[in-house]
Amino acid sequence: MSINPLPPPKPATGLGRVPAARWFVVIGVVSGLVFMGGTALIMTLVADVRARGPKPEVAAQIDHLNVALIVLLAVLAAAGVGLAFIVRFTVLKPISQFTDQVRKVAAGDFDHELAVRRPAELAELSSHVDSMRRRIVAAWRSAEDQAGELRRSNGELEQFAYVASHDLQEPLRKVASFTQMLEQRYGDQLDDRAKQYIHYAVDGAKRMQLLINDLLDFSRAGRVTGERTVTDSGGPLSTAVENLSAAIEDSGAVITHDALPKVVGNTTQLTQLFQNLIENAVKFRSEQPPRIHIGARRDGRMWEFSCSDNGIGVDSKYSDRIFLIFQRLHPRDVYPGTGIGLALCRKIVEYHGGRLWLDPGAEGQGATFRWTLPAAGDEKE
Ligand SMILES: Nc1ncnc2c1ncn2[C@@H]1O[C@H](COP(=O)(O)OP(=O)(O)O)[C@@H](O)[C@H]1O
Ligand SMILES: [Mg+2]
Repeated sequence: MSINPLPPPKPATGLGRVPAARWFVVIGVVSGLVFMGGTALIMTLVADVRARGPKPEVAAQIDHLNVALIVLLAVLAAAGVGLAFIVRFTVLKPISQFTDQVRKVAAGDFDHELAVRRPAELAELSSHVDSMRRRIVAAWRSAEDQAGELRRSNGELEQFAYVASHDLQEPLRKVASFTQMLEQRYGDQLDDRAKQYIHYAVDGAKRMQLLINDLLDFSRAGRVTGERTVTDSGGPLSTAVENLSAAIEDSGAVITHDALPKVVGNTTQLTQLFQNLIENAVKFRSEQPPRIHIGARRDGRMWEFSCSDNGIGVDSKYSDRIFLIFQRLHPRDVYPGTGIGLALCRKIVEYHGGRLWLDPGAEGQGATFRWTLPAAGDEKE
């Protein structure tokens, strides 16, 4: 079993620091001394009275008193010693036995049974604590089993998505290319309607290819846990901008950015992240040419990045929905896309230990997405 042992117990303060056993010893010694002092005092008084030569009846009474006192003192001494043994064997020893057992459990041996047989009160307490231990361990084991099962089925699902999307590409490529060949080869024998049908078929196949590619990226982001290194985030940004150069040029988009920091991340995935966000900012543009700004500010051990644009913006009521896979807010003929981009971005950021969200404050002036990434350790403020 693997669970962190509990932190060491908090030390007691004030008089509570002194262990109970020590209190008993101190009280026992003090009472013993008082007891012996009292005995010596009584004996001196009796000897004193005897020395004055009392009458015979009085002397006899004193002798009786003496015997009675000696018996009383003997009984008291025996009771004191008996009490000390009782306290030791019925209170202090069981408590220390129980403490040893609890200490073992607290140190991580969660299967260690807590059982003290005597006295009745402590036996009851230990049985309650032990049943609590057993229930917690059982609940925790079942949670761990479930988490393992979930991890396994998640892995299977990701593997399935990968294999399915990977293997689907080949037949699809065939459909697209042979349909195109059909048009090239027999185009002159086909009427307009037939050509239109071929166009639809090719268009459908291409869209499917795009979908499969995006799906492949998405499943890969969870399956392949790419290496994370200290990366200058400017690198992935310029690669992303380069990959999008055609769309940026067509739309006349202007992209600016703050000084970009070093982060701990995977270059390929960070490129995908920038690329998807900038692609969206260009795609969902308004009448004006897109102006996109990438910002960065330090937030504790993380860097908070932002990507803001002057496009059509997102209604804040969809701020969760847009991050779900295949969720889009517009028909495909108005803004093409597969609805996988933001889901992939969120997966990438979460894989890096950060968070990605839509900034609700930016409504009416385009959209601003924010995300955090772990700062590289050597970064200054
Ligand atoms: N910069 C943006 N401006 C306005 N809407 C956006 C922006 N980015 C994303 N969205 C909205 O979020 C949806 C999901 O985005 P995404 O997952 O990238 O899918 P896709 O780009 O394929 O539509 C988009 O369909 C769009 O409605
Ligand atoms: Mg997109």
